[in-house]
Amino acid sequence: MELDLDLSTPRSRRTVVPGETVDRLLCASECRVQGSVFDEMHRIRDHALLRNARDQVYVALLYQAGWFLEWMEGPPEGIDAVLRRTADDPRHGSLRVVHRSRGPRRLTQPWSMAFRPDQEPPAHFERRLKALSGQPAPDPASAWRRVSMPREDPGAAGRADTDRYQRVLVCAARGTQSFELVRWLGQANGCEVISQRLAGARAGSMDVANQYVDLDGGRGGMLRRVVATARNGLQIGLLQAFLSDYSHIVLLLCGNSKHDADLLHSLVAACARLSHRPVLLGLGRADCDHAALREVARGGGLVYLDCDIDDAANAKALWAAAEPALDLSRITTSQW
Ligand SMILES: Cc1cc2nc3c(=O)[nH]c(=O)nc-3n(C[C@H](O)[C@H](O)[C@H](O)COP(=O)(O)O)c2cc1C
Repeated sequence: MELDLDLSTPRSRRTVVPGETVDRLLCASECRVQGSVFDEMHRIRDHALLRNARDQVYVALLYQAGWFLEWMEGPPEGIDAVLRRTADDPRHGSLRVVHRSRGPRRLTQPWSMAFRPDQEPPAHFERRLKALSGQPAPDPASAWRRVSMPREDPGAAGRADTDRYQRVLVCAARGTQSFELVRWLGQANGCEVISQRLAGARAGSMDVANQYVDLDGGRGGMLRRVVATARNGLQIGLLQAFLSDYSHIVLLLCGNSKHDADLLHSLVAACARLSHRPVLLGLGRADCDHAALREVARGGGLVYLDCDIDDAANAKALWAAAEPALDLSRITTSQW
């Protein structure tokens, strides 16, 4: 399949082929921004979108624990050009390349970014960077996961390989139940709930919240990350770049056939380019039109499991209904 991506300048319009072979680079740097880092990231985005288009480089940028992590994909000379003009920027320092390889394109959009406002100590992030240089990652997604995923969480010491874990995405057709579910999971398991803000390429329109919790007790003792996202998060490149790592997407249906179908269509669009597709688990009251939703899913090549629930507002009941199904189907881990 080919995508015609509408970048900012006519000159930059080109056809991007998902899965085409590109150079992939990940670099980390210490943030030196005074004031609001997320605001500064928006300024960097607006400038970078214009400049990177000429170099045909797509970027995902993360801020976490006082560090930037930037993932670039594109032709080698384009990546070198972006790296050169980024290196001397006083808004960051101690820039280092932590991964470079050639392989399939994973970033589907010219820009996306994530901002984690929590207080993780910078030294923890740096420790994971150093660990990566001792044990190189096979691809940028794997390197990104290892660096951005704290190993200091309870139970981490018992896991040999922190890059292998089950990801479950939760998205509600209406309201904020997905976030309530993740917050309840955090409370019930005594785990910290991590908040992120994600943004895409379009100025102003696409900043969305994202919250997750890491739980022990996935299959085979694997860590299970449960991520709540707002519906428009499905359109953001960074979330799409990791969609193939999710074993399941739990849909909290509202019973309104239009809203429920809209959510299904958004998911089908977001998963369209994936080689590994998550299993959809539709949770709703008995009056939900699961048959119609299954048809939409099937049309997009997605497996849809349905599950009736009595009380959509009760997080404990939602999880009790969803959890058994998470062990039944395919578990996707970091391999892709
Ligand atoms: C963390 C970080 C990431 C950046 N990423 C990019 C980028 O992807 N592309 C880009 O053109 N500039 C990026 N910049 C901005 C550049 O460092 C630099 O300020 C800008 O490109 C200079 O532009 P000019 O050559 O047009 O003056 C980034 C800056 C920071 C601090």
